[in-house]
Amino acid sequence: MNTIKKTKWGIIGCGKIAHKFAQDLSTVPDALLFAVSSRSLEKAKNFGDTYNAVHCYGTYEELSKNSDIDIIYIATPHVFHYENTLMCLRHKKAVLCEKPFAMNRIQVEEMIDTAKNNNVFLMEGLWTYFLPHYQYVLNALESKEFGAVKKIKADFGFAADFNPDERLFNKNLGGGSLLDVGIYPLFAAVSILGYPEKIEAEATLGKTGVDESCTMQLFYKNDVIASLFSSITQKTNTEAIIECEKGTIFIHSKFHEPSHLTIQKNGVSEKINFDTKTHGYSYEIIHAQKMLSQDCKESTIMSFDRSIELISLLDSVRNIIGLHYVNNTN
Ligand SMILES: NC(=O)c1ccc[n+]([C@@H]2O[C@H](COP(=O)([O-])OP(=O)(O)OC[C@H]3O[C@@H](n4cnc5c(N)ncnc54)[C@H](OP(=O)(O)O)[C@@H]3O)[C@@H](O)[C@H]2O)c1
Repeated sequence: MNTIKKTKWGIIGCGKIAHKFAQDLSTVPDALLFAVSSRSLEKAKNFGDTYNAVHCYGTYEELSKNSDIDIIYIATPHVFHYENTLMCLRHKKAVLCEKPFAMNRIQVEEMIDTAKNNNVFLMEGLWTYFLPHYQYVLNALESKEFGAVKKIKADFGFAADFNPDERLFNKNLGGGSLLDVGIYPLFAAVSILGYPEKIEAEATLGKTGVDESCTMQLFYKNDVIASLFSSITQKTNTEAIIECEKGTIFIHSKFHEPSHLTIQKNGVSEKINFDTKTHGYSYEIIHAQKMLSQDCKESTIMSFDRSIELISLLDSVRNIIGLHYVNNTN
């Protein structure tokens, strides 16, 4: 009897997003949640029992040393992505690391170099890139049926309960709207228009010193502009509108997760629905597994160059708004 070899996943950090990821992992037929790790063994066991993990560890390092694991998903706060990723790569483990990839470009470049030196796969978990509606938009724009893009407007804002210790507001944990949610409007701009010629930005820094809201304008050749906004204190539509020469694409709320589109062209408005049965993380999981099965060390979609563009944009915006994290130079 032929048995399909399952990809053995490990998870580092058993927080909110790790739960959603584990739920989606269970929908991917050739994926196996093999091991989970938390700073608390009890928490790891609870998480592992919920999702039938084979091994549960009370330290991240123990998991990274398990030689049977094929790939590790890192779901810790932003400030730990760099050290957690380096540890896994040095133990020759493939890594899918949550967004933002790290705190700055210097860290991202070291992560990429370490992956190359250890000959293992590494990818930033910018899950939006892999979603069917987003791929549809990118393909439609590439086909030129809408002509050139003239303007992008995108926002992501929600009103979080203020808690200075929690990662959203805690500067030591990389808090603020830009790195948490502003990365999605920035990703929309960079994935459609590339790196801008000029950046303007303005932020409201709150009492913990992080950007509670951030307004960004990216300027491109031929007067093309991307107007972007992020917030952790204001709820916004969280949609993306792409105005082109021959029509407009509306990516409805929330544009960064499984969503649907309205396309306006030649005076006709058409709604396009996408039937997505998971939270949406299944698409990046399937892609990462495909990359591993083809022995790729870099994603053909979320490439190293794309991650470097994205972190460079985040660095530039941070410099403009004067947001500097202690212990994460730059
Ligand atoms: N792709 C997406 O849609 C999406 C959505 C939300 C978040 N994210 C990203 O995923 C990452 C985690 O976000 P989250 O919302 O899941 O955060 P969270 O609920 O706070 O979970 C983070 C986990 O990291 C671990 N951790 C290690 N050191 C920590 C420390 N000093 N303080 C707090 N936690 C620590 C903890 O796991 P243990 O206690 O088990 O060690 C904690 O449960 C962030 O980088 C965020 O940007 C992505």
